[in-house]
Amino acid sequence: MRTPASGRTKKRRGRREPKEGSCQTDLKVSFTVADTLTDTHAPEPNRRDFINILATTATVGAAAAVAWPLVDQLNPAADTLALASIEFDLSKVALGQEVTISWRKQPVFVRHRTPAEIARAKADDNAPMKDPATDASRVKPGHEQWLIVLASCTHLGCIPTFGGGEYGGWLCPCHGSLYDTSARIRKGPAPKNLYLPDYKFLSDTKIKIG
Ligand code: FES
Repeated sequence: MRTPASGRTKKRRGRREPKEGSCQTDLKVSFTVADTLTDTHAPEPNRRDFINILATTATVGAAAAVAWPLVDQLNPAADTLALASIEFDLSKVALGQEVTISWRKQPVFVRHRTPAEIARAKADDNAPMKDPATDASRVKPGHEQWLIVLASCTHLGCIPTFGGGEYGGWLCPCHGSLYDTSARIRKGPAPKNLYLPDYKFLSDTKIKIG
């Protein structure tokens, strides 16, 4: 039966005819050795190469299969995404009142400020403060009656209460920090104003936090 090797053997026989009576098996062996020498100079994929390629592909595939669950675990779960942002209906909060809502497991004050509270906050814009900020920088344009702040004292995280102290804003009962009606720190150990969450108005009566 004729094989590819024997085909090459026959083709090269045209360049180098065997002597009369020489052994055909010897010719095959000699040309096979020559082919091997030729392959050394110009390597081509052989069976071992394919095995290596398959092994590499399998390794990469296995690594990807392991990596995907790890990457997937880094993506927030659907319920976490749902809690990442919340919408709140402001019409529930009467003028001069506030509610505390939960966002990402932390309390948030939603305060409906009176004109007097707003005026008092603006009047102190240039007063000496630890964490200077204008009242306008702490509310959304056109919605200055709404003050939305994280309800955690910036000292050690207690929840302040509204209506105490000389600035008409919040008093932290833990160590006596005082915040004004813009929730700016005015006295006591707290170093910063109450933090503002990332939020926006979806309408005049609805906000989205987060
Ligand atoms: S935690 Fe509020 S003053 Fe210390």
